Amino acid sequence: MFIVLEGIDGCGKTTHAKLLTDWLKTRKHEVVLTAEPTNSKIGLFIREVLKGAEKVDPLTLTLLFTADRYQHLKDFVEPSLNDKKIIICERYYHSTIAYQNSQGVEWNWIFELNKFARKPDLTILLDLDPKKSISRKKTREIFEKADFLEKVRDRYLKMPELVKVSTDRSIDEVQRQIQDIVGKRL
Ligand code: TYD
Repeated sequence: MFIVLEGIDGCGKTTHAKLLTDWLKTRKHEVVLTAEPTNSKIGLFIREVLKGAEKVDPLTLTLLFTADRYQHLKDFVEPSLNDKKIIICERYYHSTIAYQNSQGVEWNWIFELNKFARKPDLTILLDLDPKKSISRKKTREIFEKADFLEKVRDRYLKMPELVKVSTDRSIDEVQRQIQDIVGKRL
């Protein structure tokens, strides 16, 4: 089973991905946790761009995220699914659509480019008001600005296949809802 967690910066993806992984393990499932951008050399270059240390055109960045994804699928996601593991992945092609379309790259072009990527079995959107997200984050990457994240959030909310979970509550309450959604699909 392939589960993706999406949401704007600071929405609590990493916390919830870990809690969900631990919960599934206590239920004796084989679970692996992963994320995009990955730690590959492509992913490390992307991190330089996110820090502002390297500059590339939004279209180039779209291609980089997508190249990182192709390799991630081939080297890690597909083999883990073949081994019947549950994969929890922080971010996937919905991130590229939401963020790079907010940078001005055409939605349909990104969608077509990512057609090679298998559809997740479940994608959860951790929804949060960008103003709250900015106050939660300590570091500043290029996308971590409230007005930009407003655009990203709008785009996420236009994707009907995402299961929306509001994160404007305690971590426990949010995690319980996530477990409930996942539990019903197991
Ligand atoms: P991430 O490490 O998940 O950051 P955070 O934990 O702060 O949410 O993602 C890094 C940044 O990369 C984040 O701002 C979202 C952005 N991103 C894209 O713009 N496009 C993509 O395709 C992906 C996977 C991430």
